[in-house]
Amino acid sequence: MNAGCGEGVRGLGDTEAKGGSDGIGLVAFAVLYLMLLTSTAGAQTPKAHFVGSESCKSCHAATYTSWKQTRMANVVRDPKEHPEAALGDFLHPDPLVTFGLDQIAFVYGSR
Ligand code: HEC
Repeated sequence: MNAGCGEGVRGLGDTEAKGGSDGIGLVAFAVLYLMLLTSTAGAQTPKAHFVGSESCKSCHAATYTSWKQTRMANVVRDPKEHPEAALGDFLHPDPLVTFGLDQIAFVYGSR
């Protein structure tokens, strides 16, 4: 018989019980192999995704509160939350203004 993978399998069985235990070694090898397969499949890192600044608040309350007041934190604003962020005049009709305040998704920058 040729030496190789089969030799190792038989060796495994031989250490547990002397003689005629090739089956045990093979089963042990198969179980080990399956455990390896399933552990590598289970160890896959979940896909990273954006969690947002709010998620930091629970542990970094003080840092979050002071950061929230900086210009950096407020560079992109939703006019639904901050109507003052949109500087245009949406109260008086203007033929050049073809959209309403409610149609603005976000405002970038501030005065
Ligand atoms: C579950 C609690 C928790 C959450 C949520 C959390 N952190 Fe932390 N963060 C910690 C702890 C605890 C430390 C201190 C770790 C240390 O010193 O070894 C830390 C340290 C840090 C540091 C290093 C601070 C320094 O002075 O070295 C930064 C930067 C940081 N966090 C940013 C964030 C950001 C950004 C988020 C949100 C995306 C966030 N953290 C969410 C618990 C948290």
